[in-house]
Amino acid sequence: MALQEPFMSMLCEQLYVEQQLVETLPKLQSEAGDAELNQNLQHHLEETREHVNRLEDAFRALGQEPKPKKSAVLEDLQKKHETLMSETPKNLHDAVIAASAAATEHNEIAAYDALICAVRAMGQKDVVELLEQNLSQEQEALQKAQKAIEKITKEHSEELVA
Ligand SMILES: [Fe+2]
Ligand SMILES: [Fe+2]
Repeated sequence: MALQEPFMSMLCEQLYVEQQLVETLPKLQSEAGDAELNQNLQHHLEETREHVNRLEDAFRALGQEPKPKKSAVLEDLQKKHETLMSETPKNLHDAVIAASAAATEHNEIAAYDALICAVRAMGQKDVVELLEQNLSQEQEALQKAQKAIEKITKEHSEELVA
């Protein structure tokens, strides 16, 4: 049984997202001033490289060629990030970076949630496992980004209120 078209399309988009994030996470990291935020982004960059590999394995297990498909959502998130950075004073850039990271993880989690449901229905346990490994790292990255938003907001509470 082949993965149904909408889910195959979603898998192709997620491959694109992961490949793009391998390129853009170092840029986000270079913009981050907070040491912990910087370290978290570095850690998730390493995980994201694994995400690409696992997705390629998932395609192969499904008997398909790994074929990335452009994601409009990721492009919107990236544009939004650039706009926010240009509109925000430098001392609050870390808050924007953490918020953009959280938004990206939410998007990845939504994609993996739907894909896992579809693949589980096909009985492809090996592929479910690969996707679940990626999902759990996205969830962890989201929690770290949320904590970073809290920490940075507290540190700059006067500037944010002003
Ligand atoms: Fe990922
Ligand atoms: Fe991620």
